[in-house]
Amino acid sequence: VSGAAELSPWRLAPRRFGRGRRAFFRSLQFLAGRCGGRHWYRRRYLAPGRFRVRREVVEVIGLPAELDGYLVVQLSDLHAGPFLGEGDLSAVVEASNRLVPDAVAITGDLITDRPEEADLLLRDFAGLRARDGVFGVFGNHDYRQRREREIAARMAERAGVRFLCDEHVRCRRGSAAVALVGLEDTEESHGCDPDRARAGLHPGDVQIVLCHNPLLASRLAGPRVAAVLSGHSHGHQIDLPGVRRLAPPHPGDRRQLGPTVAITSTGLGALGLPLRVRAPAEIVALELRAAEGRDAR
Ligand SMILES: [Fe+2]
Ligand SMILES: [Fe+2]
Repeated sequence: VSGAAELSPWRLAPRRFGRGRRAFFRSLQFLAGRCGGRHWYRRRYLAPGRFRVRREVVEVIGLPAELDGYLVVQLSDLHAGPFLGEGDLSAVVEASNRLVPDAVAITGDLITDRPEEADLLLRDFAGLRARDGVFGVFGNHDYRQRREREIAARMAERAGVRFLCDEHVRCRRGSAAVALVGLEDTEESHGCDPDRARAGLHPGDVQIVLCHNPLLASRLAGPRVAAVLSGHSHGHQIDLPGVRRLAPPHPGDRRQLGPTVAITSTGLGALGLPLRVRAPAEIVALELRAAEGRDAR
């Protein structure tokens, strides 16, 4: 793990700016919101054709035939609030539905500052379609005021999205299954416990781990883990010298970690300014494919 202080194997010190800098960013965000930032952001980054649909094929040795072609669409870092409001994800939802995914994975940072902002996403999320369902994990922002359980309950009830808090769901196809393993955030939750999340998995399950912060992906990788899906970095959001360090480190869009592929999405929303430079808004479409070779599992 690099780029963050480590408190324990699964706990990283929260990245925090000083009070002055925080107040500056807040004011900037507020002003940009007041000056039409939301509408600008929607037109420029969330309209049809303005965001990227990134296709990622993950080859898995020994993948059961029933799981060949299993498709997960990932949405990350919405940051509802000043720059993203109700209905702004309509083109994103349409693009996701057009892919006819087996599952949708939302990898955290639903809100910007206030838990109420999550309500702005309910209508769009309710429109997401997937054969096995829509699942989510929380990002560091979602623990503000420690009301994440409330958000999870509203999401389940009003949008049909199930949040996985150190737990998994098995999506079965015949005798095989893809296990979506959802982790609490490594910085802001009370604890992230991968062992607890994996308890009860069947030995042959193909795991896809959802973990907001990409920095722990190398520890989550392993022979039964096809992919780790993360966000958090926004791909630096404004990827220019001197500015990119304001965002969390972006370890790369795709990394091969032994048998596991780690995907870090550049996300859909924005913080600070309604602007992205060399960091497109995106959804990721991850497809499992059977690979030739000896089954390492
Ligand atoms: Fe984020
Ligand atoms: Fe984050």
